[in-house]
Amino acid sequence: MSLTRRDFLHQSGILTASLALPQTVHHHDQPAPKFRTALNISTLAQFVDPLPVPEVAHPIDHRPDPINPAVTLPYYRVAMRQIESKVHRDLKPTRLWAYGSTSPGPTFEARSGQGLLVEWANELPTQHFLPIDHTIHGAEAEKPEVRTVVHLHGAKAPAASDGYPDAWYPPGKSAIYHYPNHQDAAMLWYHDHALGINRLNVFAGLFGLYILRDDIEDSLNLPRGQYEIPLVLYDRIFDLDSQLNYPVSGNPKSPWTPEVFGDAFLVNGKLFPYLEVEPRKYRFRVLNASNARFFHLTLVSMQLPNNLPFQQIGTDQGLLPAPVQAHRVTLAPAERADVIVDFSTFAGANVILRNDNLNTMQFRVAPKGPHDNSALPSALRPVPKIPESAAVQTRNLTLVEIDDEVMRPVTMLLNNAHWNMPVTETPLLDSTEIWNLINLTDDSHPIHLHLVRFQILDRRSIDVSAYWTTGKLKFFGPPIPPDPSEAGWKDTVRADPAMLTRIIVPFAGYPGRYVWHCHILEHEDNEMMRPYDVITKP
Ligand code: C2O
Ligand code: CU
Ligand code: CU
Repeated sequence: MSLTRRDFLHQSGILTASLALPQTVHHHDQPAPKFRTALNISTLAQFVDPLPVPEVAHPIDHRPDPINPAVTLPYYRVAMRQIESKVHRDLKPTRLWAYGSTSPGPTFEARSGQGLLVEWANELPTQHFLPIDHTIHGAEAEKPEVRTVVHLHGAKAPAASDGYPDAWYPPGKSAIYHYPNHQDAAMLWYHDHALGINRLNVFAGLFGLYILRDDIEDSLNLPRGQYEIPLVLYDRIFDLDSQLNYPVSGNPKSPWTPEVFGDAFLVNGKLFPYLEVEPRKYRFRVLNASNARFFHLTLVSMQLPNNLPFQQIGTDQGLLPAPVQAHRVTLAPAERADVIVDFSTFAGANVILRNDNLNTMQFRVAPKGPHDNSALPSALRPVPKIPESAAVQTRNLTLVEIDDEVMRPVTMLLNNAHWNMPVTETPLLDSTEIWNLINLTDDSHPIHLHLVRFQILDRRSIDVSAYWTTGKLKFFGPPIPPDPSEAGWKDTVRADPAMLTRIIVPFAGYPGRYVWHCHILEHEDNEMMRPYDVITKP
């Protein structure tokens, strides 16, 4: 796997050396971000708060299925509210925006084929507490400051329930969304998607999990119940009053910065939490909910000189064909990993989850526990490879970064097109396409398509300057197949710098207008997002 410039800096310790400062990659002439005095996270006591596990959402009613009114569906109501939450024993409560009363919000437990309805109610204050950039499209000063719309990431949902970025609504309003759940078991997540301020709404705390299960997964006897635990990881920056500190550019008229990196890593809403575990197998459902940070996770213990091995059993859109043994998992923003960790050889010891070489959380393994009768089968679920010949169309789509002093310091675009330009990607419903993501920038961009799941075909180094001059792809070296840990169904793919990343996408589900975008939220908010239409007639 190729390294981004930032990966390199992380691995070489350059970016993690000065913990007191938020880590922002400076783009060219971008003025250095300004922030109020930041809390030095390295001064905090570690492993003093137990890991919270978000509560499970419960329906409050049953209502007719909008597609088949003869049937009723469970009806949930989730209100977005401003809350205060202690992220660490020694910090004051932090103001957050939450779905319900915690961030992450309540976890939905859903079954494949059994739809549900959610009323997403905006009960937030009318003023934002993070710095809006009114020069960004969709965030103009005449718009309400607080606008929200919920997207269920990874869902095969009708367009009207997908949370289109323009479908936002202000405090006092709500929307009822229908999730048919006609898809395989997977861990999805819901988060805000309001045009132009999505990065701020998610940073404020608007996200939660949605776990979809099915009979195939149930039959595997994987660790479940108290032995299956979600881990939602994200980075933040805090000020000396324990409040969120979103960095701004040097230009007060245009506070947007290209990427935000925090030094404080939260897991399920706590800093440096610990979890008491039994000496047995656990299933961890891991999500990277950061705005921009890529996580490189390892498990370490004093008992072992090397990182602990674990088994990755699933990715964004569900189970892999077979477990993949790993010592490290890389997760770009929005990516998920489903992993089995066996603590049985660590009875009585501590195991630490690290990001790069920084402690993130601790597992305290009990000396003894009841017998573990869960399984880790050697075959999980077939993932038939889609043949390239199934594709009826191949689209070349560039990822570009433009330095234009007149417009903004940095603009990142998909295929040189702005958000407001006419739709150019119009796949036919139930057809398969290959999308060639041609990354001409020097950053890795996690590219996400709404509605669909896809497979990664390969990645290949390209000659970027030759592409700029000739418009043709010239390759360095052969195509590299996806890592075994990515060789399942995905909905977000790392398009690495100076590489062609090829994905093959069956456009199944529903016709209508969806979006595809970079999941670095600062990029997404500022033009690195495009609408696309699933059409029924060519
Ligand atoms: Cu996770 Cu368009 O989003
Ligand atoms: Cu999505
Ligand atoms: Cu990006």
